Amino acid sequence: MRSTRRSVLKGAALAAVAVAGATTLRGFDAAAAAAPASRGIFGYGVASGDPTADSLVIWTRATPPPRHQGDPVATPGSGLGAPLPVVWELAHDPGFRSVVRRGAVLTSARSDHTVKVDVTGLRPYTRYYYRFRAEGQTSPVGRTQTAPDEAHRVHALRFGLVSCSNFTGGYFGAYRALADRDDLDFVLHVGDYIYEYGNGADRYGPAALIGTRDGVPATETIDLQGYRLRHALHKADPDLARAHRQHPWITIFDDHEVANNAWATGAENHTPDVEGAFATRRRQAYEAYLEWMPFRLPDQRTVAHDGTRFFKLFTFGPLGDLSVLETRQNRSQQVDVAPFTRSGGGFIPVGIPAVDAALADPSRHLPEPAQLDWLKRTLASDGRRWHLIGNQVIMTPVRFPGAALGVPGNLTLLNSDQWDGYQADQANLIAHLAAQPASKGDAVVLTGDIHSSWAMDLPADRSAADYRPSGVEFVCPSVTSDGFYELVRASLPAGTPTATAVATTQGITGAVAATNPWIKYLDGVGHGYTLIDVTPDRVQADFYLTPTPTEAEPDPRIDPVVRPGYARSWQTVAGSRRISAATGPVGARSDQPATHH
Ligand SMILES: [Fe+2]
Repeated sequence: MRSTRRSVLKGAALAAVAVAGATTLRGFDAAAAAAPASRGIFGYGVASGDPTADSLVIWTRATPPPRHQGDPVATPGSGLGAPLPVVWELAHDPGFRSVVRRGAVLTSARSDHTVKVDVTGLRPYTRYYYRFRAEGQTSPVGRTQTAPDEAHRVHALRFGLVSCSNFTGGYFGAYRALADRDDLDFVLHVGDYIYEYGNGADRYGPAALIGTRDGVPATETIDLQGYRLRHALHKADPDLARAHRQHPWITIFDDHEVANNAWATGAENHTPDVEGAFATRRRQAYEAYLEWMPFRLPDQRTVAHDGTRFFKLFTFGPLGDLSVLETRQNRSQQVDVAPFTRSGGGFIPVGIPAVDAALADPSRHLPEPAQLDWLKRTLASDGRRWHLIGNQVIMTPVRFPGAALGVPGNLTLLNSDQWDGYQADQANLIAHLAAQPASKGDAVVLTGDIHSSWAMDLPADRSAADYRPSGVEFVCPSVTSDGFYELVRASLPAGTPTATAVATTQGITGAVAATNPWIKYLDGVGHGYTLIDVTPDRVQADFYLTPTPTEAEPDPRIDPVVRPGYARSWQTVAGSRRISAATGPVGARSDQPATHH
């Protein structure tokens, strides 16, 4: 789901936000993102990511201290500051009595003084601690672990699934709750880790946070300096910093790490006349992403791909694997239907022959064909019980009843920015899943983007009464970004009771689910995260959501201490390839990563 621009669902919300955000700020107000640079060398904390059986990426930002009195601080994006030697250490214990790897790197303004080390030669499924040192200062200690990946052993696998963490959308209670957990192998973020919007008329999020939780830079991020500062703002958030410090993360970008509803050569929220060439903007956005995220760029030579290869595979012994897709860089332009959408897609009516033909055009692609082939090979591989797929936009076919969305006429809509907008790829992949024999295991798609919580069967055909499921999809709620409830709330008259807005939202999501019998769960009110727990017998998804709004506290996202709480559980039982109810939240892990101290 997208910003408050242009789509049929968004008009009323845009009006509300435009009024609230009328005090347009210009230029760089870097205080919030830059402050940690003045709190010592390691003010942006530490992070780790992309755990394999024997390696991990560890990350920090090392701000060089001023050499002379009066020198400007080398804030993120500034290009300032001398090169700085940084020592890193990885140990079995948080006190670093048992250091297992140590090294030194030189960072500089070329990488915005970020530091990223791919530490190799480690033991599988083992807990480690890491830190950085420079000029007598020591970073916070990060906790991390290698993947539960041994050839002939089944380990527990449990992780947090998140997406859509709009800084101006609310406090990161979901990240706080994930940081509190002691039972995760990693956090999987499937996109929209940052948003590109500014604090003016394009501001995205509740008006109540204007002045207390503003974006940095204050204007839309369109160049390297802007994207670096926006990433720095996120790393400066205490809840996000702690979630990075406590767990390794696996991340992949979606559109907002560059611009809303991006495709291969443009984006809905990119105006070439004003903002320059899209390719230049995207290259700078990717550069900042690679600098500021604990992300390992995969081998560019071993797998066919177009452009830069970001997609990659993680393995977890006989239990399963996780293919992490990248679906923005090479995608064909979304199908647009005026006046519903102008560029970049969105909710469009179906049943119009020219539109239906464009949606089904086999020359249009979501991932590039080489990436889809790579995924299909993994799904057809032997020896792993579950094939998890980290994915950005909903893969399951979803038809939206226009009447329920308040669209005039008796129209049926789909979201052309989802896999539904690339129906040849969608049908190709789902047919491939349906064709896999039981011996190949089952697929579980893990998705974000739409700022709401879903559990669905992937129907290999779409006959309502007796469709054939070929796998399942779980969609996590947004961390903070506006969901169905906020859009409904903004479209209702001021003063509408909260209970009415909640009931209206549930009416809409209920109508969507009723139109698509393979949808088993759809919540459009809460925000938070989804816990994914994998055993040989089943994959379970526990949805942790912010409380339903009340009159006293209309938006839990603006309360800095609210954590999402347990809401619902769904599962897919091995061999069933469909969703079923689960009785309650998962219990203790069956095993723990090894510790050696
Ligand atoms: Fe999003």
